Amino acid sequence: MKKLLITLLLSGTTILGFAQGNTHKQELGKYKGLAMTPPMGWNSWNTFATNIDEKLVKETADIMVSSGMAAAGYNYIVLDDGWMAKERDENGNLIPDPVKFPSGMKSVIDYVHSKGLKFGLYNCAGTQTCAGYPGTRGYEYQDARFYAKLGIDFLKYDWCNTAGITAKEAYNTMSNALKMAGRPIVFSLCEWGDNQPWEWGEPVGNLWRISGDIYPCFDCEFKHPENWSSWGFMKIVEMRKDIRKYSGPDHWNDFDMMEVGNEMTTIEDRSHFAMWCMMASPLIAGNDFRKMKPETLAILTNKNLIAVNQDKLGIQGFKFTIEDGVEVWVKPLSDGAWAVTFLNRTEVAKKINFDWKKNSIKDTDFGYEADFNKNIFKIIDLWKNKEAGTTKKNFTADIVAHDVITLKLIP
Ligand code: GLA
Repeated sequence: MKKLLITLLLSGTTILGFAQGNTHKQELGKYKGLAMTPPMGWNSWNTFATNIDEKLVKETADIMVSSGMAAAGYNYIVLDDGWMAKERDENGNLIPDPVKFPSGMKSVIDYVHSKGLKFGLYNCAGTQTCAGYPGTRGYEYQDARFYAKLGIDFLKYDWCNTAGITAKEAYNTMSNALKMAGRPIVFSLCEWGDNQPWEWGEPVGNLWRISGDIYPCFDCEFKHPENWSSWGFMKIVEMRKDIRKYSGPDHWNDFDMMEVGNEMTTIEDRSHFAMWCMMASPLIAGNDFRKMKPETLAILTNKNLIAVNQDKLGIQGFKFTIEDGVEVWVKPLSDGAWAVTFLNRTEVAKKINFDWKKNSIKDTDFGYEADFNKNIFKIIDLWKNKEAGTTKKNFTADIVAHDVITLKLIP
């Protein structure tokens, strides 16, 4: 009897003790609040593809700080495809390529962190990445712990070699795995918009790609021989201008890494940057910082435009109207202000003569309104950084082909 009592007491204590000790009650789903404004940074893919190494990372981090990019808000350095060895180790762990990263990934990450910056890596939901390196399928929890231990801050998670799996589930699994690994890591879905991530992505990730890959041109479609296309920046904007209501703080429509400073003209780079700001897209530079021209740096660090992108309302802009081939894009900003971008989509110079009174703006998705017959707004030209009258008078300007004029209207 005594023995039975002791056994019962002991097991009771065990059960009680177990129940009390079980405080690991982490909610599943993404780490919330890591991207309340669109993430800003640099990614290796657009310029370097898989030709990446530790020297490139360190030099890029150095320039991010010394050039003023970091002060302008760019803080993530993300290594895209190609950072791994071709095989996992005998325990199934990923191996950073020892030739590209002879000091080890940890020391590279520590270096980036020592500069006050954050660090990101890339992998893929499929069996292999797009460039043929080990994918994460079946290794989600193991890889998440690997990333947490390395100390990364951002994971871009791609969608190649995924036959037979469902996007929503695959991204959910990785999102939960990251959460359970216990380190806040921004989760960047790179599913190309094939399975409408904007409809299910908010609890899963902090940003999601909405299109196939960008191409450094204004409005072209680049057809790859393997039967897929990359897109000029205006093609992406046009393709996804109607899903704006799905984007917002901590759940951004990602219009892809930028091609500013890559193969377009300075005018086109300016338009590209202005549109990424208007669309509240993540601002991830994709150029070679070591060869960056002053005009590229000036575009990427334009404080006025960045403020439009980082506005705390976090609303993606929309195409409001078009006059003689000049598109007018608008974006509600906090404190009743608006950003307005005139974009010359044509191949010839145009004259703008925009009558505000005939063009009161209504944002039916988010419920904002600018009634130019009732209210007068002060106008600031954000590229020229100077006042440009008020909405009492027509706005007049010359605009060359492919160029933009971006204004801020202040009530
Ligand atoms: C896909 C992605 C790109 C890049 C490459 C890497 O194409 O969309 O952004 O990550 O894979 O292989």
